[in-house]
Amino acid sequence: MAHGNEPIAPVPLNSNIDPRRAALGRQLFHDSRLSHDQKYSCATCHPLDHGGMDGLPVAKSPVGGSDLRNTLTVFNVDLNASYNWDGITNNLTDHTARILENPRLMNMSEAELLSRIRGDSGYMAAFQSAYPQGLTRASVLDAIASFERSLLTPNSRFDRFLRGDVDALSGEEKEGYRLFKAYGCVSCHQGINMGGNLYQKFGVFEEKIPGERSPLDSGRFRITKAPRDRHVFRVPSLRNVAVTAPYFHDGREPELKEAVKTMAKAQLGRRLREDEIDRIVAFLKTLTGKYRGKILAGPPSGNSEDE
Ligand code: HEC
Ligand code: HEC
Repeated sequence: MAHGNEPIAPVPLNSNIDPRRAALGRQLFHDSRLSHDQKYSCATCHPLDHGGMDGLPVAKSPVGGSDLRNTLTVFNVDLNASYNWDGITNNLTDHTARILENPRLMNMSEAELLSRIRGDSGYMAAFQSAYPQGLTRASVLDAIASFERSLLTPNSRFDRFLRGDVDALSGEEKEGYRLFKAYGCVSCHQGINMGGNLYQKFGVFEEKIPGERSPLDSGRFRITKAPRDRHVFRVPSLRNVAVTAPYFHDGREPELKEAVKTMAKAQLGRRLREDEIDRIVAFLKTLTGKYRGKILAGPPSGNSEDE
């Protein structure tokens, strides 16, 4: 295969998820009865027709306050080794339970969740046929996680290039990919998802990063309490990055080009030339994949850049 010599592999063309379970999960994902006040569904913050995230700097909690982070996309989550900006868990079912029970998000107790879903005879019948045990907490979590695992976005132009279609990228985009490798972006944004499998400090070379919000988010330190994990974050995936603005864990950066400049300075200690930055950005725009045959569109606020 053409990607044999490349450090990045294409997104799989299909997922092996039980279609009945994924369909149930899709329905739950879009159902606002899954939130205590019945106003939010998962899709409110993760709209699938807009890059799988809300386009806001930080998510808007149903109960107010401003302590949430930038919403991560739900596309290609199955290709990440752990979840959230701080890698709070590496189990997607556990992650789903945390969201449902989080008082800042869905704010649902197990009893409330099950009684709401049991009140719907359509769900009851669908769970009976998709799960031997029928409708239980475990099958609800599994259905949502199954749907999430089905959210792959194959067939980006870059992946077509990796599969051997050398004309899928322009000369400028290929040069951007070369620079992405040569400058070492790929040492952190690696693997199929071009991220999602490492933890790194934001600001390896520069302590003070432009646009830093205060109070500082201590990142992975919140989970491990190990001093070396202060301001360490999961390296985010760059798949579909052109349609998931704004950028960074606190959404401080609206422009992809500026995000790349910040990366070069803060993570590599380099100032890249304008034309090099432009080429890398051109390359990153080729990472937008397709969901159900359609190229992903940008966030509702119109922050996205054209494909
Ligand atoms: C109020 C907005 C909001 C709602 C509602 C919401 N999410 Fe999220 N989601 C977020 C934010 C913000 C993050 C990043 C959290 C962090 O890292 O601290 C996130 C992260 C995730 C991730 C992790 C992605 C990754 O790459 O690690 C998944 C998966 C996810 N959400 C699925 C869901 C599901 C399923 C639901 C419904 C049960 C849901 N979300 C409801 C805002 C929301
Ligand atoms: C030392 C590891 C490391 C290197 C090298 C690195 N990055 Fe990053 N990158 C990260 C981390 C960690 C984040 C998340 C920072 C945060 O928000 O806290 C990130 C975030 C990003 C984002 C924002 C993604 C989003 O969804 O918010 C982009 C774009 C990006 N990097 C591109 C690049 C490019 C292009 C290069 C090379 C010029 C590069 N990175 C080099 C670790 C790295």
